[in-house]
Amino acid sequence: MVKQVVTACFVLFHGIIFYWAFMTSCSNVQSSSKSIPTIARYFGTKGRYEEVNTYLIDDIFAINDSLVTQPSSKCNAVHLTAIIRHGTRLPTNKNVLKMRDFYNLVLRNASGNVNYLSEIKSKWTMWYTQDMDGQLVDKGRHDHSYLAQRLIKWFPSLLSEDNVRNGGVKLKTSSKHRCVNSTIAFRMGLMQGLNIEVDLNITINDTLMRYFDQCERYVKEVESNKSALAEMNRFNEGPEMKRSMEKMADRLEVPYASITDDSMEAAFYLCAYEFTINGLNSPWCQLFDESDAEVMEYVNDLKQYWKRSYGHEINSKSSCILFHDLFSRLDRIEDQINSNSSVSEAVMVQVGHAETLIPLFTLLDLFKDDTPLKSTNFATQQNRTFRSGRFVPYAANLLVVMYNCLDGIRIGVRLNEKSLTLPGLSDPVPLYKDVKKRYNALLSGCDQDTVCKIS
Ligand SMILES: *[C@@H]1O[C@H](CO)[C@@H](O)[C@H](O)[C@H]1NC(C)=O
Ligand SMILES: *[C@@H]1O[C@H](CO)[C@@H](O)[C@H](O)[C@H]1NC(C)=O
Ligand SMILES: *[C@@H]1O[C@H](CO)[C@@H](O)[C@H](O)[C@H]1NC(C)=O
Ligand SMILES: *[C@@H]1O[C@H](CO)[C@@H](O)[C@H](O)[C@H]1NC(C)=O
Ligand SMILES: *[C@@H]1O[C@H](CO)[C@@H](O)[C@H](O)[C@H]1NC(C)=O
Ligand SMILES: *[C@@H]1O[C@H](CO)[C@@H](O)[C@H](O)[C@H]1NC(C)=O
Ligand SMILES: *[C@@H]1O[C@H](CO)[C@@H](O)[C@H](O)[C@H]1NC(C)=O
Repeated sequence: MVKQVVTACFVLFHGIIFYWAFMTSCSNVQSSSKSIPTIARYFGTKGRYEEVNTYLIDDIFAINDSLVTQPSSKCNAVHLTAIIRHGTRLPTNKNVLKMRDFYNLVLRNASGNVNYLSEIKSKWTMWYTQDMDGQLVDKGRHDHSYLAQRLIKWFPSLLSEDNVRNGGVKLKTSSKHRCVNSTIAFRMGLMQGLNIEVDLNITINDTLMRYFDQCERYVKEVESNKSALAEMNRFNEGPEMKRSMEKMADRLEVPYASITDDSMEAAFYLCAYEFTINGLNSPWCQLFDESDAEVMEYVNDLKQYWKRSYGHEINSKSSCILFHDLFSRLDRIEDQINSNSSVSEAVMVQVGHAETLIPLFTLLDLFKDDTPLKSTNFATQQNRTFRSGRFVPYAANLLVVMYNCLDGIRIGVRLNEKSLTLPGLSDPVPLYKDVKKRYNALLSGCDQDTVCKIS
């Protein structure tokens, strides 16, 4: 009898312990999966789309009308062009190498005794390998599939079953596997959202989606020019970076000379990739405080600024073809509307790279600060508009909507599902003719044969 009670208690006791352990582990899983690194908004081009639209964290299918300005007069949406960056991806080989070197440094040389270092050393495994080659991950497929489903909600009359069935919806992509796979995921989201199954072909066009490779002058003056990124290199040797490198060395308890700008970049990537790919707030993130993260963000912004944006005149020209492709389509649709014919191209989806979108934003004069980003003006650039994490996270998208309105044809532009007023225009949904007037110089120029040729 006594023995039975003891056994029962033992079972009960175990049950409670088990229940307690179970609940604790559940809540751990939950809290770590919901936990966002405090430095996540500084990840720049390695940042998560949800960081620019935080309401998506709670509901990935939500669309937020309060972020969009509708045209003032009575209008119908008649066309959508969506130019989208590929989704979340694995690191490239070059960066995997840097990450592995840094991991080995922590493993072998770091003597610091804090929790996050022991966690890296004993629990974390280096799972990034050199054959990953920047491939799209599951999160990246979701980025595109869910975006497609939100776009159906945003534009039900354009992304409709009829338009998909009658060829009014077109998908184009760069040939890079991460872009092709993003486009496949987008198409899957489209079919799921509309609950249909239709053959929808995907066209590859690198001239359109990654012309930067083919622009001779760009390749010579920037891509293969060691001095093109001089401002970034100077910043890497400057006082702000030196301070962050010393703090890193102090955290690891290694000599200052052991930490280079490459190790800083690798550590930052480890934090960023673990979060964007696996949703983990990993111990790597503990190696940075917010001021270090601002420094790392600035390095990335300097790179984008000088390699893809205002830093060199030729940078933006690598998207001239894409610019003309957009406006010639809008012109065709304008003609169709004016001649009362039906609109043949309801939706054009084009999937490319940060290197496709940043030059296009630059052509449009977006995110242009009064002073250039330099190695010496980190402090005064604190409030700059050129912050790549805000405009080109994974799956970043430029949406150009054409409306047929009572008072004419109008254009609405949205960046990452938020309305954007084109610089130099006061109306957030201007008349198409005013947009063309605004960009007249580009419309009558920006000819890639001329600008990219080296005489
Ligand atoms: C929409 O966005 C605004 C501004 O970011 C935010 O305050 C609001 O909570 C969002 N609404 C919903 C329904 O998520
Ligand atoms: C991406 O697509 C390519 C074909 O374009 C395929 O071989 C590859 O397995 C895909 N990668 C992933 C991660 O889905
Ligand atoms: C899609 O591509 C396939 C194979 O290239 C072709 O046979 C088919 O006609 C295309 N469908 C459409 C709608 O263009
Ligand atoms: C790619 O797109 C450009 C611009 O629209 C067009 O001129 C070209 O013919 C296309 N190339 C292919 C192979 O479809
Ligand atoms: C390389 O970049 C530097 C700095 O912007 C520039 O002065 C130089 O002309 C460029 N070199 C070539 C070959 O274009
Ligand atoms: C790490 O320590 C080893 C000796 O244990 C040394 O040879 C190596 O240079 C150190 N690495 C760095 C980057 O300081
Ligand atoms: C940036 O903006 C904040 C808030 O408006 C302001 O306090 C600060 O002085 C600005 N910094 C610079 C360098 O302009």
